[in-house]
Amino acid sequence: MSTLVIGETDWPTEKGLCCLSLADLNRRGLMLCRDGKLKFHDASGEWHEVDHVLWRAQGPRDAKLQHSALSLVAASSAECVNSASSLLQYGTRILNHGALRKGGLPVITSCPILGSNGLSYFYKAEFPSVLKVGDWHMGYGKCKVSNLEAWNDAVDMAAIADEIVSVEPFIDYRRDLRVLLVGEDLIAVERFPASHQWKANVCPSEIKRVELLPELAHMTRKAAALLGMSILGVDWIEDKKGAWHLLEVNPSPGLQMEEMDCRPLALKLLQRNSH
Ligand SMILES: Nc1ncnc2c1ncn2[C@@H]1O[C@H](COP(=O)(O)OP(=O)(O)O)[C@@H](O)[C@H]1O
Ligand SMILES: [Mg+2]
Repeated sequence: MSTLVIGETDWPTEKGLCCLSLADLNRRGLMLCRDGKLKFHDASGEWHEVDHVLWRAQGPRDAKLQHSALSLVAASSAECVNSASSLLQYGTRILNHGALRKGGLPVITSCPILGSNGLSYFYKAEFPSVLKVGDWHMGYGKCKVSNLEAWNDAVDMAAIADEIVSVEPFIDYRRDLRVLLVGEDLIAVERFPASHQWKANVCPSEIKRVELLPELAHMTRKAAALLGMSILGVDWIEDKKGAWHLLEVNPSPGLQMEEMDCRPLALKLLQRNSH
């Protein structure tokens, strides 16, 4: 029995566990055998059967490679968390926002636009807005725009990326929470933005574990059910009137939250799913 972690290389060494970056996997080889089994090559002559995959890759940098590897995993008999088909279906911000909104969750209103003309000439911006270019994480590809001059500059920068650009209202939030769900377990941290940052997740001045409001716990579990995922990180912001807005669902969230290392929970989940 073996577990392959795809997309991260720093998991504690454990018998039967192998971690590979996507680039390494691509160099060595991933194979869907005729009998439906999944195997990876160890680069020294042997193929190894994979029973479980823990999918930890994300982001647009190697999106094509991710899609190819996920297709093999989805078609194989290996158990994958999150399931490869849910990742293929809802792995990006735009796809999962749509499903979550249809499911009744308070997803932030956002207007994704394809094509630089649409953005540069035909879209009427309101201020302050947030521009999110493509599907980058960790604050990358996002800017807050407060006036027309800054908007024009931001649009000029965004236009050359050839990616979908989402425009959202900037919400002057009073709290920013990351809620991590691993199976049945829920953990929440509050992030406090640095004085020079509007993004609370980029070099926050403080991160602290907080008790989860039942309302957010319920909505986070509902997000997981709607997407068919059992591991996810959901970012919530609370506006000045006390309403919560779902900013994003991260299907491969960081599993180390402050002093908590949730990686063993993820492994346990994978093993439990196989019985
Ligand atoms: N529309 C918004 N209004 C106010 N703050 C926002 C908005 N969108 C994002 N933020 C801030 O930026 C952070 C990062 O945005 P997010 O959409 O979660 O992208 P990332 O994938 O980069 O984490 C959020 O945690 C929040 O603090
Ligand atoms: Mg986020």
